[in-house]
Amino acid sequence: MNKGETALELRGIDKRFGAVHANRAVSFSVRRGTIHGLIGENGAGKSTLMNIVYGFHPADAGELLVDGRAVAIRSPQDAIAAGIGMVHQHFMLVPNFTVLENLILGAEGGWRLAAGRAKARAAMERIEREHGLSVPLDAVVEDLPVGIQQRVEILKALNRGAEILILDEPTAVLTPQETSQLFELLRRLRDQGRTIILVTHKLKEIMAVTDNVTVMRQGAVVAGVATAATSPQALADEMVGRAVSLEVAKGPAAPGVPLLSVRDLAVRDRKGVPRVKGVSFEVRAGEIVGIAGVAGNGQSELLEAIAGLVEPERGEISVSGRPVNGLDPRERRALGLAHIPEDRLRMGVVAAFPARDNAILGYHDRAGYNRGPFTRPARISGDCARKMSDWDVRPPAPGLRMSLFSGGNQQKLVLAREIDSNPVVLLIGQPTRGVDIGAIEFIHRRLVALRDAGKALLLVSVELDEILGLADRILVMAGGEIVGELSAAEASEEKLGLMMAGIGKAAHG
Ligand SMILES: Nc1ncnc2c1ncn2[C@@H]1O[C@H](COP(=O)(O)OP(=O)(O)O)[C@@H](O)[C@H]1O
Ligand SMILES: [Mg+2]
Repeated sequence: MNKGETALELRGIDKRFGAVHANRAVSFSVRRGTIHGLIGENGAGKSTLMNIVYGFHPADAGELLVDGRAVAIRSPQDAIAAGIGMVHQHFMLVPNFTVLENLILGAEGGWRLAAGRAKARAAMERIEREHGLSVPLDAVVEDLPVGIQQRVEILKALNRGAEILILDEPTAVLTPQETSQLFELLRRLRDQGRTIILVTHKLKEIMAVTDNVTVMRQGAVVAGVATAATSPQALADEMVGRAVSLEVAKGPAAPGVPLLSVRDLAVRDRKGVPRVKGVSFEVRAGEIVGIAGVAGNGQSELLEAIAGLVEPERGEISVSGRPVNGLDPRERRALGLAHIPEDRLRMGVVAAFPARDNAILGYHDRAGYNRGPFTRPARISGDCARKMSDWDVRPPAPGLRMSLFSGGNQQKLVLAREIDSNPVVLLIGQPTRGVDIGAIEFIHRRLVALRDAGKALLLVSVELDEILGLADRILVMAGGEIVGELSAAEASEEKLGLMMAGIGKAAHG
């Protein structure tokens, strides 16, 4: 190949969204035929930057060079013409079309549906052979596992002539095994001379598959190194801007009596589709039980049913030995059942209210906040200020509207509210989704302290590292059922991954 070493160069890319300075004079180069990692915490500006490269957003300033030549990219069509392809976090396939139909749609000015089908098939089969990337061309997209849908997206980009392929958080929806298959594919594409940009917030992925890595923090590039010359710890410190601890420090659990008991619980969603299919388990005092699984396997519905937000089809739930079926969320809270919902923007907070009101949401009728029919604003503000200082919520401003806090700070306030209510059982969905590594460390420590104080914690997370780090016992959910159980000591990412995929079923008693 006669082209230069640098496939893509970014020079001084700058972008603001109102008051948010999402990209600050970002410059770096991506070498041809390498896998280049782009890592940073949530909100660091990675997606914004890649969306600029792909022509979704115009940059306010800066230049893009492809193969050493300045290119003007004003739309995805321009990016595609420059040989840049992108696979999004949320796929852009037509769910009720077949794979082949989707690929035909993706071909710029290409084959029309009926006319070019045979030609299209032949072209796809050639690309599949070339890259060792097989997809079922005649299957309907919505019937395929997400790992395969993602391959279709990749194939679509390759078919459009992508030499540079951008993947934005591609593993968020994959099992560990699907992730390794994706990484194998990326290595193959690299070895054939393509250039891959892998956007992720996961240190492990950077270490596993990239050649070079660029670290972003608060919109700016703060480091750029060869992956072999760095470490997860060094990258984490760069991402956060200070020394952080990656391990959850905790001693062995000393479980006591069961505090939460769930028997044969079944839940259907609003459309009547069974989501939880007869699940039974217990969580004891002084233990953290983790529920592992790929998103969408019934974990969310399970938590919502226990919290009293949805009516189960059947089954029994009890807290400290008292049945709570038929009680509303408030009545369950009064019995000591606290819930930190995974979708906190929808259920955990009221974004338009000030922080002080959010800090007592669901507990506003407790003594102390009211005198007769009147609320006590000074008491409520003071209480919120104390929570903010205990939990390091920034800025510590009880009067500030909730929507003006970052996701991590909103989450800390929700955690403060629920944990300060002194629960017996705490249900937590995705405790650190959208939360910075620095705050994750803090939240994990608080959860372990709660366990050590003899509470029962039920944790649902799609982050296996989080489950492995926090849980004393792990239940694996797949297809609405608990398909296996492992103790923290025997659990590994590999074992959990196989169970999540429905392979390696283990006994669950
Ligand atoms: N379309 C938009 N409008 C306003 N703000 C945005 C928009 N897209 C991103 N942002 C903000 O820009 C910052 C960077 O976001 P993003 O690029 O998505 O980060 P990352 O992908 O690293 O998590 C965040 O503060 C985010 O809220
Ligand atoms: Mg992003």
